[in-house]
Amino acid sequence: MMKYFIGNWKMFGVPRSIKILNRINSFRSTDSNRNKYRIVITPPYTLLETFAKKFRDKKIIIGSQNCYQKEKFSSNTAAISPYMIRAIGAKYTLVGHSDNRAEGDTNTILKDKVKFALQNNLKVVFCIGENKLEKKNNKTFSVLKNQLVKVLESKFNKNNIIVAYEPIWSIGTGKIPSYYELLNTSSFIKKTLKKIFKKGSPEVLYGGSVDEKNVHVFREIKEIDGFLIGGASKSSKKFIDIIKNYYR
Ligand code: PGA
Repeated sequence: MMKYFIGNWKMFGVPRSIKILNRINSFRSTDSNRNKYRIVITPPYTLLETFAKKFRDKKIIIGSQNCYQKEKFSSNTAAISPYMIRAIGAKYTLVGHSDNRAEGDTNTILKDKVKFALQNNLKVVFCIGENKLEKKNNKTFSVLKNQLVKVLESKFNKNNIIVAYEPIWSIGTGKIPSYYELLNTSSFIKKTLKKIFKKGSPEVLYGGSVDEKNVHVFREIKEIDGFLIGGASKSSKKFIDIIKNYYR
């Protein structure tokens, strides 16, 4: 099974930060495991076009961190549509990151984002996750189910959707779910996805404080098809060590 290592740069990076990708690219080109995984990096909008052009023929795929919920052009100031993102050569987009949900992305908005992104041939990484209070109150499964069924539809092409499970209490905190927690949650997510899509399920990633020291914990969980990596993706060394330690 193909694994994913997706680096979400968030508000990080200037043009010279391309050297981070150059180092990751040289590592990958000689790595004996390279055909087992895909690397996707989502830099901020300001770097999207340069990076997408630079890595067009290379094995690092460039994606966007978000997209606007309209297809092509509109009068929404500062908005960037899926059409515009695809036109500059990016191939993926995150949708529904908890940062954007906190800023007002509702299920209705997210459904439009997924729909228009797919229509424009972008692969969608759809982020879901419960917060600390929801976890404490044993609401994790109902929250996740709601986030999935309210946005994803059976008519969407499941091969162009990846679901990233990112517990909000884990993002940027250094805390990760226990092995059994993640085993249960990831199989619940896959089960729910199979119900939505009938035949098969999109791939499921884990995100939240993944680093080179803890990545081995996730190796044994077969439902986890890869990682969405924030903080540790800003360092080529850490990002490369995550891949190395995963296959060790
Ligand atoms: P983190 O972020 O790896 O820094 O916890 C993950 C994310 O928000 O995608």
